[in-house]
Amino acid sequence: MKTLILYVSKKGCTELCAKELAINFRKNVTVMNLKQQKNIDLNPFDTIIMGTPIYIGKINSDLKQFCYQNERKLLNKNIAFFACGVTESDKVCQNLNSQLPDKIANHSLLNSFFGGELRYEKMNSMIKLIVKQFQKQNGNKSPKINHLEIERFCREVRKKIDVK
Ligand SMILES: Cc1cc2nc3c(=O)[nH]c(=O)nc-3n(C[C@H](O)[C@H](O)[C@H](O)COP(=O)(O)O)c2cc1C
Repeated sequence: MKTLILYVSKKGCTELCAKELAINFRKNVTVMNLKQQKNIDLNPFDTIIMGTPIYIGKINSDLKQFCYQNERKLLNKNIAFFACGVTESDKVCQNLNSQLPDKIANHSLLNSFFGGELRYEKMNSMIKLIVKQFQKQNGNKSPKINHLEIERFCREVRKKIDVK
């Protein structure tokens, strides 16, 4: 059983989560940054896990396009998704489902939310100001990656794959 973890990350948080997830899988796992690959051969993999950050309520457009372009292949694999963000888990998971192609969303074994980080040092001053204001209004504390959820997600996906 070979697993591919395919992710997109603007500021590095989703990348960190993808790598942490791979460590949890331990073996037969490959991690790829979608933006650094030209042609991705899905044939060697039984399971494809896709990770995206959420920006302004949207999943990454390259990942979405990848799902549309590879819909038929993905429907023949085990697939699952995770998202990184700083809002509530339910909202983010709803976002995932509503923005993926219907058949792909229905075929997904599991969607999860791994939390996220706000890396102010990587934002320009305008964005930093807006994000800080937003955080203040919403009374949000510093967002964090949910490491326990990464472990749980890995366990659940493995369980579902083994059952098949
Ligand atoms: C301009 C901006 C908009 C964002 N919009 C959302 C959002 O709509 N929902 C959300 O949950 N998180 C939002 N976030 C938080 C990011 O999803 C979070 O920082 C995530 O960890 C980024 O992942 P990355 O480092 O892999 O790009 C936003 C962050 C920024 C800077």
